[in-house]
Amino acid sequence: MEIQVLDKTFVPFISEKQIQERLGEIANEILRDMNGEIPIFIGVLNGSFMVVSDLVKQYKGSCEMSFVKMASYIGTQSSNQVNQLLGLDIDVTDRRVIIIEDIVDTGNTLVALKKLFEQQRPKEVRICTLCLKPEAYTKDIKLDYVAFEIENKFIVGYGMDYDKHGRNIPEIYQIKE
Ligand code: IMP
Ligand code: MG
Repeated sequence: MEIQVLDKTFVPFISEKQIQERLGEIANEILRDMNGEIPIFIGVLNGSFMVVSDLVKQYKGSCEMSFVKMASYIGTQSSNQVNQLLGLDIDVTDRRVIIIEDIVDTGNTLVALKKLFEQQRPKEVRICTLCLKPEAYTKDIKLDYVAFEIENKFIVGYGMDYDKHGRNIPEIYQIKE
């Protein structure tokens, strides 16, 4: 069923069940890759709060977690300027860090995040994202865990907003053209 968020109409795109299944697979993949080491999951606020919650619940090992806050979007357009609104509050020196994103679009946010982490000399930084828009992604930072590769259209729900609205919708909707 179509939904309305502010002035735009959206159609169902990825269901709660599909999201949980993929996050379960990725949680297991990460557990294997960590080889007994304890990762630090870093969620990127605001958009990743649901992904972090559902991913760590399915992670069957020890982990630490924290959040950073970045912002690059105004309405439905990515801006080149990425602002850091809340910095890292945890020591990641020599640790395996996994950054969790809701969606990687141009990759501008990732570049800023990588810089932030490199200052602290972690053992490794991996990237996990729920969605990736391959047509929009212009950077060469490797994305280690991608749940869904999607076309270059605006989506909302499951933590992602359209002009601050729609983050609470439990599944993902795509803009109707
Ligand atoms: P990037 O810096 O262009 O890669 O944008 C990354 C951030 O922009 C994501 O973490 C989201 O918060 C936001 N974003 C990108 N695409 C969408 C979208 O289709 N819907 C909602 N938010 C988006
Ligand atoms: Mg985000």
